[in-house]
Amino acid sequence: MTARGTPTIALRYALAVGCVAAAVLLHISLAGPHLDPTGLFVLAVVAAAWFGGVGPGLFAALLATLALPQFVAMGYPPLADVFDLLRFITFGITGAAVGWGSARRRLAEAALRDTRAGLEAAVAERTAALRESEERYALAMEASEEGHFEWNVITDEMFASDHVKQLFGVSAEVEYRTRSELAARVRFYPGDWERLDEMTRLVLGGTAQHDEFEYRILRGDEVRWLRRRWKIFRDADGVAQRVIGVLSDVTDRKRFEEELRRSEQELRRAQRLESMGTLAGGIAHDFNNILGAILGYGEMALRGAKEGTRLRRDLDAIMSAGERGRALVDRVLAFSRSAVGERIPVHVEAVVREALDLLAGDLPEGIRVRTELRGGHAAMLGDPTQVHQVVMNLATNAVHAMPKGGVLRVSLERQHVEAARTMTVGALAPGRYLVLKVADSGSGIRADVFERMFDPFFTTKEVGVGSGLGLSLVHGIVTNVGGAIDVATELGKGTKFTVYLPHSGEAPGRTADEKRPLPRGAGQRVLVVDDEEPLVRLATETLEGLGYAPTGFTSSANALEAFGADPKGFDAVLTDERMPGVTGSNIIREVRRLNPSIPIVLMSGFVGAATALKARELGANDVLKKPLLARELATSLARVLRH
Ligand SMILES: Nc1ncnc2c1ncn2[C@@H]1O[C@H](COP(=O)(O)OP(=O)(O)OP(=O)(O)O)[C@@H](O)[C@H]1O
Ligand SMILES: [Mg+2]
Repeated sequence: MTARGTPTIALRYALAVGCVAAAVLLHISLAGPHLDPTGLFVLAVVAAAWFGGVGPGLFAALLATLALPQFVAMGYPPLADVFDLLRFITFGITGAAVGWGSARRRLAEAALRDTRAGLEAAVAERTAALRESEERYALAMEASEEGHFEWNVITDEMFASDHVKQLFGVSAEVEYRTRSELAARVRFYPGDWERLDEMTRLVLGGTAQHDEFEYRILRGDEVRWLRRRWKIFRDADGVAQRVIGVLSDVTDRKRFEEELRRSEQELRRAQRLESMGTLAGGIAHDFNNILGAILGYGEMALRGAKEGTRLRRDLDAIMSAGERGRALVDRVLAFSRSAVGERIPVHVEAVVREALDLLAGDLPEGIRVRTELRGGHAAMLGDPTQVHQVVMNLATNAVHAMPKGGVLRVSLERQHVEAARTMTVGALAPGRYLVLKVADSGSGIRADVFERMFDPFFTTKEVGVGSGLGLSLVHGIVTNVGGAIDVATELGKGTKFTVYLPHSGEAPGRTADEKRPLPRGAGQRVLVVDDEEPLVRLATETLEGLGYAPTGFTSSANALEAFGADPKGFDAVLTDERMPGVTGSNIIREVRRLNPSIPIVLMSGFVGAATALKARELGANDVLKKPLLARELATSLARVLRH
């Protein structure tokens, strides 16, 4: 085996010859034949052995032994002692020793070179493996979207990967050395830094090895949830020394959890309301029939009972209790959705404006109203009376929540909902909506009330003040048209109800006429007859708001009786057409008989040319189409009263 860089055998022997020849030449040219050239020959042997190895060393020794006597002028006869044994042994030993030493050195050098090359290869291999593993680690970190950090608890020194800075919303150029310096750059959600710091202190002071904590920061104008997970390294005494951890953004998961919680809550509420609605609706339906019998027979009995008798008084009491019962049943039916309203395009802004006009009439002291109606002509398919009820109920609740006064804000705007959302009531599908907001600066709603406020008959008000049906009606109406309600409340600060009503097309534009203020009454007494209690309530409230003094009846028989008792006691009559028992036409006939000049306005859900003509023939001064709008009612009454 020839080591790398070792000359071939022939070359090495040629080298030996060369060395001896060089000694001879040197001796001849420098010293001359009379000097002893032994030293030169020894040098030649050494050189041949050093560079050529043992074999060439011995070969050079042989050549030197043979050549030397030729140049030594010491009286030897030429070739007298061809083998001068002593010289040969000296030269031989020198050549062998030097050659052996040189070969060993060369071998050692070769081995060293091999080892070094092996080591270098191993180092290169390890470096590549390390780089690869670092790259893999960085990729894994990137894929998991987690930032990585190390914190020396004792010195507060901190290292955080660029991704941590990204998560914190801190620029990559920001320089820091300690955790406190880095934290000073982060915009924490109010109160969360204190929470985080307190928790950190507690955990480090304890014995835990691992910890997980979630907190909020502000990035731009967005709130983001971050989760940090830690491994804590402690010394033998359990004192925390170092922390290694990862940081990740868990905002989406948090949102999802919140959404899930809300939808579960909403589902429970919807199930509860549905079963209550079914139960209440069933009872109300049957009870309505029973009431029908009581009121029907009561009416018949009334006809036979003489004025002023005890029987008459008792029957009157039965009738008015029955009427109250029916009013209640009506509201329950409306809530349980057994009563389905009309489905016509409703100009929501006009209805809201009208309801607010009415409300403005009898607002308690200290309540200021701020309105911002930007719905334009946007319309919703539904029943204007019901939209009116929604506004009235929410606004009334808001006013009740501010006994010491405050601000009632009502706004209406169009909104495009991009993604489905769960609301306090109902789920909102993507689409176009008309958004009605009614906000107060009142008491706010306690959590236990919040849970149940949409339940029918749930009220925190005293007996007689609230029946607890307001919000359940709102709920029934809004879900019926495919809308949803969101409620935000803060104790002591106020409450905001946001109602989403599906937007479908545009309502016809408001005419110049509609922009004029409503003509008002001057305390004229108006008899109002309608068999539906909410409509009587609506009409009387509207009339009161317009400055009239209305008296409402849900029984046409009772109304006629009241009119008969004092035909001059009223200045106008407003009556429905379709009613059980005495119909609107009968009322008109009877009223005309008793008071030929009194203005009469008929309201009807079905006003065709024929109906209108017939009504006028009977003696009605005007015919209005239901559902009643305050503007129409106001102008109609003002007109008929002028004549
Ligand atoms: N804006 C509000 N601020 C504070 N509490 C409210 C608000 N709106 C509703 N509530 C609470 O919800 C309860 C239920 O309201 P809801 O309108 O259904 O019934 P009510 O107002 O008590 O009676 P009704 O409306 O039948 O006259 C109220 O008693 C009240 O405690
Ligand atoms: Mg209410």
